[in-house]
Amino acid sequence: MKIAFVGKGGSGKTTLSSLFVRHLAAAGAPVVAVDADINQHLGCALGLEESEATALPAMGDRLPLIKDYLRGDNPRIASAETMIKTTPPGEGSRLLRVSEDNPVYDACAREVELDGGAARLMVTGPFTDADLGVACYHSKTGAVELFLNHLVDSRDEYVVVDMTAGSDSFASGMFTRFDITFLVAEPTRKGVSVYRQYKEYARDFGVVLRVVGNKVQGQDDLDFLRAEVGEDLLVTVGHSDWVRAMEKGRPPRFEFLDDADRRALRLLQVAADATYELRDWERYTQQMAHFHLKNAASWGNERTGADLAAQIDPGFVLREGVTTPA
Ligand SMILES: Nc1ncnc2c1ncn2[C@@H]1O[C@H](COP(=O)(O)OP(=O)(O)OP(=O)(O)O)[C@@H](O)[C@H]1O
Ligand SMILES: [Mg+2]
Repeated sequence: MKIAFVGKGGSGKTTLSSLFVRHLAAAGAPVVAVDADINQHLGCALGLEESEATALPAMGDRLPLIKDYLRGDNPRIASAETMIKTTPPGEGSRLLRVSEDNPVYDACAREVELDGGAARLMVTGPFTDADLGVACYHSKTGAVELFLNHLVDSRDEYVVVDMTAGSDSFASGMFTRFDITFLVAEPTRKGVSVYRQYKEYARDFGVVLRVVGNKVQGQDDLDFLRAEVGEDLLVTVGHSDWVRAMEKGRPPRFEFLDDADRRALRLLQVAADATYELRDWERYTQQMAHFHLKNAASWGNERTGADLAAQIDPGFVLREGVTTPA
């Protein structure tokens, strides 16, 4: 199951992603955690020391390796150089699984020990101001999009992505790559306006979007969110002393998380699991082609000097059980 946490800066995306990853890992589920946010904090939220977090390998720096592995012997993709972030898999491409060893995980993922479990962690790499709005920024989140577009995941295994709600994810199609998207919103007008924008983009693509209210204190906050987002409000989380203790560098054991927060995390999992029935691999594959054509026309063809539309394999559908060359 592919799950995104999005929302306004500072809303609690990283905090809630990390709690959800801990929850899944404690339940014994295979989890890949991906930090795709501009502010790379997921490693620390999962308990890494600052020095360990900064030493994590950046997916954005390993794109040639990722591309070369994924294209396999797909005859429609002539070289890693002509592979852009939206290049879809086809016959001959190598696909990825949540629980396996492969060169992409070897190069980009690190095992993080959590109370009662473990998760694989991958990070896009730090963004600098110079990256924003230019091609390098695209290529950094592009590594995550390539990963998701080549992933054949099943139920009871999870990829959790900590992501911004920025316009880049809309241009590339990244926002359509998830079984469910949790939009983290504080009970404020700004928090809710990000929800509206997301909902607007999501509408035509069958994106399952649910709101997780964060830092919700009391009835007034709850009433506000209910009034603003209605049925899309899945659950709310209040101020967490556990989170605060962790921020002080004194992480309690995960089992000491508040009952209400544990309940909220179980609800998130139930909501995510329920989307398995809605899966439509054909639509998922068609959307890849849609965004690939869009990106090819707007910058990709020019950048690579190739006709990237020809990379689309019309007979290929990504799905569970599809085989991949060794
Ligand atoms: N429920 C909570 N209880 C206590 N503190 C919280 C809670 N949610 C978030 N925080 C705190 O609020 C701050 C912002 O949260 P967080 O870093 O998760 O937000 P973010 O959306 O990932 O931000 P950014 O956009 O900067 O990546 C952090 O210091 C975090 O510890
Ligand atoms: Mg964050």
